[in-house]
Order: sequence, then structure tokens, then C-alpha cells
Amino acid sequence: MYPVWEVPGLTAGLVLGLIAAFHMLPSHLSVGAMWLNVYLESRAERENRPELLDFVRKYSRLLLIFSYVFGSLSGVGIWFAATLAAPRAISGLIHNYVWGWATEWVFFIVEVVGIFVYVYSFDKVDRKTHIRIGWIFALGSWTTMVVIVGILTFMLTPGLWPQTGGFFDGFFNRTYWPQLFLRTGSMLVIAAAYATVIAARVYDAKVRSTVARAASVFGLGGLALGAACFFWYRASLPAHAVEIVEMLVKPGLRQGMIGSTVLLALYFGWLIVKPASARFWPALASILVLFAGIWSFERSRELIRKPWVIPNYMYSNQIIGADLPAKGVRSEIPAINERGILKTAPFVPKNLREVNDENRLQAGRMVALLECAACHSLQQGGVRSLARIAREKELDADMMEGLLYSLDQMPYMPPFAGTDPERRALAEFVAALSKGELR
Ligand code: HEC
Repeated sequence: MYPVWEVPGLTAGLVLGLIAAFHMLPSHLSVGAMWLNVYLESRAERENRPELLDFVRKYSRLLLIFSYVFGSLSGVGIWFAATLAAPRAISGLIHNYVWGWATEWVFFIVEVVGIFVYVYSFDKVDRKTHIRIGWIFALGSWTTMVVIVGILTFMLTPGLWPQTGGFFDGFFNRTYWPQLFLRTGSMLVIAAAYATVIAARVYDAKVRSTVARAASVFGLGGLALGAACFFWYRASLPAHAVEIVEMLVKPGLRQGMIGSTVLLALYFGWLIVKPASARFWPALASILVLFAGIWSFERSRELIRKPWVIPNYMYSNQIIGADLPAKGVRSEIPAINERGILKTAPFVPKNLREVNDENRLQAGRMVALLECAACHSLQQGGVRSLARIAREKELDADMMEGLLYSLDQMPYMPPFAGTDPERRALAEFVAALSKGELR
């Protein structure tokens, strides 16, 4: 294990989650926008409406700037944050899916080159060729989604991979298809919402109406596809995940998903009926509503992976918690119970390797950092603060110690791993923390 990235109050996972949820906007915009673009461009060609091209030009410029500045930055941000938050998990993923990412990046290059060629050749090649360039871009960027969804869904439902270790056994798992089409639906919704923002900025009233209506049809279609696939996705979740949904996905997150779907459906429905009424501020508000929906969904999706970062393999605190015969990997829990976590983790300061009367609270804090901080804040407040939980449940050191024998009785937590003195040190640390005796 590596040095722990402790983010005061927030936990590293939540920082990663924020960056990843934001990344949804530019990345899905990029994948979805060109479908709308080639449709409108073909229509402008067919109906001989050059003024419609003005919109397409504006919209693809937004795509170039927003998607490729913020998309690239936040995409790299995900890698940095994930590598800091869970280096071992990232290492495990890379060892299995390096060719998956390599494949994605080939198509990613098609996408990046494609948008530049599309924007800068807008009036330099004939329309038919230009539309063809648009199609190459649209298919290339959707293919990046086809690939990355395999790796994303693997992290929730690794399929037969734990038994076979095979690339495609993990890739085409039970949540792959519903999530691919769920994301395809959301890419249409995101592209449509952005298109209404740009449409509201177009002076020509006829163009504004044409675009607002076409975008809203895309948006409403995307919502319908997304909603249908959402239920398909829910039905394909394993029993453990369903149990966690019931326990951990709070009403706020459910309302976030339902509320934003309903609001967006009303918004697109309204624009289909009265496309001339497209205005800038409501359009911008639709992006915020969209973000609330995405955040609620992505947050729930993260929650249902608990206690694992890769199910039946590695816990969120990066301890390998199950045998993986196909890869010759053994669970680390028995060895850690015997030797102690402070002796096993490589970067523990020398004076904390052994618990004694002088260092007990500090050693306890080290154990908490290694085993609990992935999900619990070690401050007085913040995400699932251990101090607050202990205060609310009135846990003293003895009760906490008792609880540590059966943490994994709760389906969302890994077991405590370590020796008796380490368990005691952790319990005393949490008790002291909750009384405000420590920082
Ligand atoms: C995989 C994430 C994860 C890890 C790692 C984890 N916990 Fe938890 N823990 C949770 C979640 C989720 C809850 C439920 C909180 C809620 O209800 O919002 C929880 C709840 C608790 C509770 C309250 C129990 C109850 O009755 O609800 C205690 C005490 C607790 N954790 C202690 C610990 C300690 C100590 C560690 C480290 C050894 C730890 N947890 C590691 C996710 C985790």
C-alpha cells in the first residue's frame, strides 16, 4: 500500500467523484453533439438553407473549446485523482485493461483530430465531404464510449473475470449493455441541452426554432432511451448492489435523478411545442438541472460498489479481500490478521510499526488512515465522520472495539484487518477523536 491521500472532511473518493461527474458534461457532449450536427448539416444541404449552417458552425466551435479544453483537463484530472486515491486499484485495472485503454485512445485520437478537421474545413471542402468528416468523428467518438463502458462496468460487476481472469469475461459483464445504452441516451440529452443554449443565441428566428425543435426531439428521445435503460440497468444489478441501494442511496439522490428527468422532459416538451420561445437563461438552467441528475446518478453508482473498489477482489481501502485463483492472487486478510496492518503496509513510520503505550493513539490514527479513511473523514465533521458516528451512537472505546469484530456484518464495509493491539488502538483513537481530545 502507498501513502494515503487524506482530503480533510471530504475523502479522496468524493474529490474523484466530483471531477468525474463534471467530466460527464464535456465528454458526453463531445460524443453526442456531432450526431446532432451531421443531422442539421445534412438537413441544411437537403433543404438548401445556408443560414442553418451558421448554427452548426457555432455549435461545433463550442464543442471544440468546451469539450476539448475542459474535457481533456478533467479527463486527466480523473487519472491524477484516481491514481492518488487508489493507486493499487488503478494498477490492478491497468494490468488487466491496458489494451482496452490503448484501444480507446486510438479512437480518442480520431475524435480529437476529427473535431479540428471538422471545424477548420467547414467552408473549405464541399458539403458532402464535410458531412462525411462529421460522420467519422461521430462514430469514432461513440466508439470511445463502447470501450470505456466495459472498464467502468467491470468495476461494479466483473462477470466471470474473478474465475477466469479473461479480458472479455470481465468486459462484457451483466451491466455492460444497459449502461452503454443508458450513456448513449444521456449523450443525446447533454448534446441537446447545450444545443438549446447555442440556439437561443442565434438571431435568425427561423433557425432558432428549427434547431430548438430538432434538439428537443433528440433530447426527449435520449431521455426516453435513458429512462428505459435505467430500469434495465437496475434489473441487471446483483443482489448485493440492490441491498446497498436500499440502505445507502438516500432520498435526496433518488429525487435528484427523478426530478431532473422530469424537469428536462418538460423543458424539451415545451420547446417541441413552442420552439420559438427558446431563451438563453432557461437553457443555461437546463444544464444545471442536468448536472444535478448526473451527480445523483454517478454518486449512487459509486455507493453501490461498496465495500469494494473492484468487487470480489479489492476493497475500497485497497486491501485484497478475496482469492483470485486465475491470477495467482491470494486474499491478504489472513496474513494481515497475523502480522498486523502496521507491519504490512510499506510506508508506515518506523515508530508506529508496533503499538505501545506511548504511541497508541498515533498508531490508531495510522490504522484508521489505512483502513477507514477511504470512506470516513477523520475530522470532527465531513463525509461519514468517524468522530460524529461515534458521538451519535455513543460509542466508547470498548464498544468500538466490539464493533470492529463485526464491521463486515454490514454489507457496505470491509472487515477490520489487523492484530488485537491494533484493533484496540483504533478503537481508542476513534473514542478520543469523538470526545474532541484529538485534532
Ligand atoms: C468501503 C467504505 C468503508 C470503509 C473502508 C469503512 N467504512 Fe465504516 N461505513 C461505511 C458506510 C457506507 C457506512 C454507513 C454510513 C451511513 O449510514 O451513511 C459506515 C458506517 C460505519 C459505522 C456505523 C455503523 C452503523 O451501525 O451504521 C462505524 C462505527 C464505522 N463505519 C466504522 C468504520 C471503521 C472503524 C472503519 C475502518 C476500520 C470503517 N468503518 C471502514 C463505509 C465504510
